[in-house]
Amino acid sequence: MPIIAPSLLAADFLEIGKACEMINQSEAAWLHLDVMDGRFVPNISFGTPVIAAIRKATDKILDVHLMIEEPEKYTPLFNEIGANILTVHAEACTHLHRNIQHIKSLGMKAGVALNPHTPLSSIEEVLQDIDVVCIMTVNPGFGAQKFIPSMLAKIERLKHIILTKGYTTQIEIDGGVTLENAPEILKAGADILVAGNTVFGAKDPIKTIELLSKMS
Ligand code: DX5
Ligand code: ZN
Repeated sequence: MPIIAPSLLAADFLEIGKACEMINQSEAAWLHLDVMDGRFVPNISFGTPVIAAIRKATDKILDVHLMIEEPEKYTPLFNEIGANILTVHAEACTHLHRNIQHIKSLGMKAGVALNPHTPLSSIEEVLQDIDVVCIMTVNPGFGAQKFIPSMLAKIERLKHIILTKGYTTQIEIDGGVTLENAPEILKAGADILVAGNTVFGAKDPIKTIELLSKMS
C-alpha cells in the first residue's frame, strides 16, 4: 500500500485549517509541505510560521520539501516547529552528507530530492544514509504540471539499486501524479506519492486519497 502525501501547495490558502481537517479525516499518512525561496526555484510559497500553525492542526507526518538555497541554515528551525521529514535538494547542498547527518541527529528523517536532470549517481555515495529519496517528476516550483514520462525509468533504476544493496530507503514521487498514472509509477517502484492538484482539485478529496492509497 503506497503512502499518500497530499501537497498543501494546491489547497485554498484562505482555508488551510479546513484543508488540515480534511487530511485528518483521510487515509493520507503524510502531509507534504513545499517551501520555496524564489532563488532555488522561481516561486515563493510559505515558510516556518505557516508550518508551525499547521503542526497544531494535525498529527499527520509533516513531510517538508525545502526548495531553498542553503537549507542547512534552517535545519534546527524546521525541527523546532515539528517537521518529521526534512527534504533538501541535492543541487542545493555542497555538503550533502553533513546535512543528512545533521537532520537525522535532531530526530527527523532525512530526505533528498533530485531535479529531473540530476542523475542518481549524484547521491550514490550517500544513498544508504538517506531515509527518503524524492524523485522530482516535474521541474520544481509550481503545482499542476505534467508528469515527465522519462522519469519512470529513473524510478525503476533507483528501486533496483535500493533492493540490490538491501537499503531501507523509500522512494517518493513528486509532481504530476494523477489517478491515471499512479499505477505505473507504483509499478516502477514508488513507495510514497505526493499529490497536489489531483487531491485538492478533486470534487471529493477524501475519496481521491482513498483511491490512491488502495492502488498497487
Ligand atoms: C512542485 C512541488 C510539488 C507540487 C506537486 O515544486 O514540489 O510538491 O505541490 O503538485 P502537483 O501534484 O499538482 O503536481
Ligand atoms: Zn514537493
